[in-house]
Amino acid sequence: MLVSNWLVLILLIVCAAFGAETDEIKTISVMTGDSVVLHTGVREVNREKQILWLFGPEHPDTLIAEIYKLSISIYDSYEGLKDRLQMDQQTGSLTVRNITTSHSGLYTAQIMNAMTTFKRFSVTVYAPVSLPVTESSSPVSECQISVLQKCADACFGADGGFSSAAMCSAANGPGVSLSWYKGRERLNQTSSPDLSVTLSLPLEIKDRNNDVYHCVAANPVSNKTTRFSFQEHCPLNTDSSHSCGFTEAVIRLVISALVGVATVAILFYDIRSGKKSTTVPKCPSEK
Ligand SMILES: *[C@@H]1O[C@H](CO)[C@@H](O)[C@H](O)[C@H]1NC(C)=O
Ligand SMILES: *[C@@H]1O[C@H](CO)[C@@H](O)[C@H](O)[C@H]1NC(C)=O
Ligand SMILES: *[C@@H]1O[C@H](CO)[C@@H](O)[C@H](O)[C@H]1NC(C)=O
Repeated sequence: MLVSNWLVLILLIVCAAFGAETDEIKTISVMTGDSVVLHTGVREVNREKQILWLFGPEHPDTLIAEIYKLSISIYDSYEGLKDRLQMDQQTGSLTVRNITTSHSGLYTAQIMNAMTTFKRFSVTVYAPVSLPVTESSSPVSECQISVLQKCADACFGADGGFSSAAMCSAANGPGVSLSWYKGRERLNQTSSPDLSVTLSLPLEIKDRNNDVYHCVAANPVSNKTTRFSFQEHCPLNTDSSHSCGFTEAVIRLVISALVGVATVAILFYDIRSGKKSTTVPKCPSEK
């Protein structure tokens, strides 16, 4: 009798160890506040069947719930979990309601009657991503100090290299990536394992355009999008009123005045010298 008991125990341990190696782990991603149901796969729990639910952030070593002799017990053994747990009387499946990021980890159902089987779940809880912020990398003030260039040139930076740039940033978090899209095409993407940094990604465009770009922050359970266009941040139409309007108006006025004075001077000279003018007055270069 004693020997057969030992045999059963050894068999159980071997089965448990074997099960641990061969059972698949089901991966589940959920958003904070969601409910997640962890199925045992058991059709009907009878008096002989005992099901233990174990949880741990890295190892499932804390007993959080069990059903034994058809009676359910939920334990206050892990921070904030007890009030969120619900166990199905018929199947022993576990529901975690209003889940938080501190309940990410490994959940294991240990199902015991004649032999022991396991159901394993790796649950990752993600907070929704934050809305990305976009801005033109060339601040508008550059327009005001650049006098000899056309306003739009100043807004879009000097020639050579990239002619225009924008920056998108968003708070980092587990599984967060930041991308620039033009339509459905992804232009660039970044992510960082360092969760303390803010993610930022430049958009560099060779040619000025009026296209609309989208910056998307995404994680496995959510995404948020901010649109961006250079036209809005840095208008191409120099006649429209923006910060460079005044400077440009002054330059135009000065150039017009110079041209006017030069024309009058040339005409006056031509009339005095009695020659017919053959030269057309040239506009000063804008360069
Ligand atoms: C969900 O959990 C959060 C944080 O633990 C709590 O503040 C909130 O009231 C809960 N919501 C519901 C509907 O229980
Ligand atoms: C993509 O982003 C990196 C920085 O994360 C930048 O160095 C690179 O120039 C970008 N590529 C394009 C095509 O914008
Ligand atoms: C963003 O989320 C929506 C569902 O909310 C999904 O249809 C879409 O494919 C996601 N986009 C990206 C870029 O992940």
